[in-house]
Amino acid sequence: MANISTRFFGLDLKSPVIAASSSMTGHAEQVLRLAEAGAGAIVLKSIFEEEIFHELQEELSQRSGLNSDPEYLDYFDYVIKDANIRKYLKLISDVKSSTTVPIVASINCISSSDWVLFARKIEEAGADALELNMYVDPANVSNSSENIEQTYFETINRVLAVMKIPVSIKISHYFSNLAGMVQKLSETGISGITIFNRFYSPDIDVENQSVGIAEILSTPHDYILPLRWTGILSGLTSCGLAATTGIHTGQTALKFILAGASAVQVASVLYHEGPSAITKMNQEISDWMDQKGFQTLNDFKGSLSQTESSVQAWERVQFMKYFGEKTF
Ligand SMILES: Cc1cc2nc3c(=O)[nH]c(=O)nc-3n(C[C@H](O)[C@H](O)[C@H](O)COP(=O)(O)O)c2cc1C
Repeated sequence: MANISTRFFGLDLKSPVIAASSSMTGHAEQVLRLAEAGAGAIVLKSIFEEEIFHELQEELSQRSGLNSDPEYLDYFDYVIKDANIRKYLKLISDVKSSTTVPIVASINCISSSDWVLFARKIEEAGADALELNMYVDPANVSNSSENIEQTYFETINRVLAVMKIPVSIKISHYFSNLAGMVQKLSETGISGITIFNRFYSPDIDVENQSVGIAEILSTPHDYILPLRWTGILSGLTSCGLAATTGIHTGQTALKFILAGASAVQVASVLYHEGPSAITKMNQEISDWMDQKGFQTLNDFKGSLSQTESSVQAWERVQFMKYFGEKTF
């Protein structure tokens, strides 16, 4: 059987298939099932800043009269955060005591600086690495692109300054110069970048003329955008690159490794098929490698990336050519 081990998050992983952060990775029993199924690493459900502040707001709204008391606000702020942290730290220590599969904590960070303290506690609880799920919403016209980009660098620098375990980031594709930004991010000292995180998106109900939530889970066709950018970025980054979104099969995972990814992160397929989806993907990767005569992932990793193959294959000119030659 082929050796499918890889390196990502600054860690040695037995498989390139990582269980991505989701509600499935928020419970110890489920995390252990994913570990048994052969996940290379498991990224725990994120601690969300919004979650913490939402709880704070709810409690305050039930205690009218106290809202304006700044001392109470400070005290309560501390208590709420401590409760959330304790729950999260227990999850880390519970799963760490039951599996040798690397456990990666995750923090969803946007603007607040308090989570830097969370990060230290997470390290103390025994997490093998930390993933920052970073997203500064580019929908605010008064927040300049320079300012948005700066937030990423400041955040990373602050976290790296206090952490000993490896720190990786998961980002979206919403940058004006995506390649330039990812390259600069990769030079900050982080151990890995995962492209691209997936969000709750709005959808419109035409019948009721209302705005609701779009389908939360990805489909097996949603991998095209991260695949293109994996092919373009993998040769430009100073740290490992992983991909997420729409990766549901071993075949698709192989496409990403050929494009230069060190690993893939999966969530939706776990909701569709359960943890055994990871076992199946590992087997598909290994079978294909045996069939092609590859012994390790490094034998073919990045062989079809933009730097190794034709530059044009990854560029928009192909798209123009396609439509230019066809009549619809
Ligand atoms: C129900 C659900 C919850 C998720 N929660 C988180 C989260 O807490 N933190 C995070 O970084 N990503 C979260 N994600 C995003 C996944 O980690 C993953 O990157 C994304 O879903 C794309 O992979 P997929 O196409 O395999 O689902 C969530 C995804 C789903 C479907």
